[in-house]
Amino acid sequence: MTESTSEKLVEVAKRRGFFSQTAESYGGVAGFYTFGPEGAELKRNIENLWRDRFNTKEGHREIEAPTIMPEPVFEASGHLETFDDMIIECPECQSSIRADHLVEDNTNIEEAESFPTDKVEQIIEDEDLVCSSCGFELSGIDVNDFNLMFETNIGPGDSNPGYLRPETAQGIFAEFPRFKEYARNQLPFGITQIGKAYRNEISPRKSIIRVREFTQAELEHFIHPHDDEPNLEKVEDVELVLYPATEQQKDEGEYKKMTVNEAVEKNVIESDWVAYYLGVAKRWYSRVGIDMTRFRYRQHLEGERAHYASDCWDAEAEIDGDWIEISGFSDRGCYDLKKHQEHSEESYEIFEQFDEPVTEEKAKIDPDMSWMGPTYGDHASEILEELERMVEEEPQIFERKSELRIEFDEKTFNIPVDKLNFEIVEEEKNGERLLPHVIEPSFGVDRILYAVMDHSFEEDEVDGEERTVLSFETEVAPSLVAVFPLMDKDGMGEKAREVAENLRSKGFETRYDDSGAIGRRYRRQDEIGTPYCVTVDHETLEDGTVTVRDRDSTDQKRVDLEELEKVLERLGEGEISFSDL
Ligand code: GLY
Repeated sequence: MTESTSEKLVEVAKRRGFFSQTAESYGGVAGFYTFGPEGAELKRNIENLWRDRFNTKEGHREIEAPTIMPEPVFEASGHLETFDDMIIECPECQSSIRADHLVEDNTNIEEAESFPTDKVEQIIEDEDLVCSSCGFELSGIDVNDFNLMFETNIGPGDSNPGYLRPETAQGIFAEFPRFKEYARNQLPFGITQIGKAYRNEISPRKSIIRVREFTQAELEHFIHPHDDEPNLEKVEDVELVLYPATEQQKDEGEYKKMTVNEAVEKNVIESDWVAYYLGVAKRWYSRVGIDMTRFRYRQHLEGERAHYASDCWDAEAEIDGDWIEISGFSDRGCYDLKKHQEHSEESYEIFEQFDEPVTEEKAKIDPDMSWMGPTYGDHASEILEELERMVEEEPQIFERKSELRIEFDEKTFNIPVDKLNFEIVEEEKNGERLLPHVIEPSFGVDRILYAVMDHSFEEDEVDGEERTVLSFETEVAPSLVAVFPLMDKDGMGEKAREVAENLRSKGFETRYDDSGAIGRRYRRQDEIGTPYCVTVDHETLEDGTVTVRDRDSTDQKRVDLEELEKVLERLGEGEISFSDL
């Protein structure tokens, strides 16, 4: 059987120090991976390019919150109640299986994640689906919800439960009262965070694609609910490949290809802000090396959306024939800030100061309490509260009706309006309180890293020998350059070490290798995606030139050592290409 790209990639990743399963010497632990020197460097480069685009170029600020948060945070956020996947447990071999994946993997259904548990149970029965480990028939076995958060105890004992954050976002929302002060109550503003998040996946799989500990890069962009607009001009011409929910529901649904501007004008993407970030992100993905012919934006189906999102588009990359979510772009509305405001003791509202005070008509009541108290006894204060809510929300009924009907504790009270001293007064307002809305571009860094590796993975033949190349963009490649002596003799080794040392001192990520035949050294660098190799040979000692070899074309050019640093800098920044040398 021929190996798939993923199998080859995972083998190269392990052998060459990109990533491998954690604690393999102890049998490994599913869903946890350790990034080796090449993988960690690649990841840092991707994260730093994200920072460049989403912090520096957008003017947003990055924070760092703890990975463990106390239970009330997740009660408020809704994760305790609803952050579940569907689990089915095999009674024969006790395997825990993700029920929606069982359906998707064994039928033509692609969106089982968006179905309720009873529908998934029914499909398992109708399709006679069996346990993926032992083949036992799962018809009639319950499908249950399984909460994905890892629980722990904060301090000794179990009186203070905490959870490892399932998304970095909550570390931003929970501190919003501080951040709104920091931003001087001025919308819009964005807070970002890059850090670990944890989900106790039922069945981790596909290498680092579905893991239990992973890195997110998230932006929470706080905007005015109706007054703030993104600068669409910056991305208006970016071409998007969109797969809207309506198309996914058709038998022959199609991709819609259009610019950001068209997507907004035709209302294919409802939120202008989401459209803006899809445009920004597409350019960014191209910059880090995602193949744009294997990339699309897919809108979530209604049942698939997270509990907080009113709309969500995923960026998806094709990997070995499957579409894998690598980011999500959600319109979270005011869901999170409202929930934290309700559950905590602080205000999550912004006070918006008007340029000029405005005079507004306001309906109010001033009931005759000497009559209400004796008339309604213990219920008087509850009735008053309800009347105050009504006068704020539906003042017109105080003008229309002579009696208002209120129900408490299965009792009905008819309140005469003439006892309430209802009136419309004019009030001057200097501003108003509002809950910002949130637009969230959320990137899965590990998955992006995997997709970048997969889309850069090539096999070709050089001088009759097969080679594997990771053709990374120079900005993300773990090392820009490797330096070799042709042989470690006649002073070539000393000179090559001096060249490497000099490049390192100038800030170039530089590898040095003097072991084995030169061809094998090139192959090693090709496999870790180093764009340029510099070889010191006899000529170097005579005329001060070195060969620079290009990873992708394998062409070689001679460059004066005095020019080397400048040349590498310009190649690294994409100012020139190798063929320009
Ligand atoms: N913050 C979005 C997510 O974790 O999926």
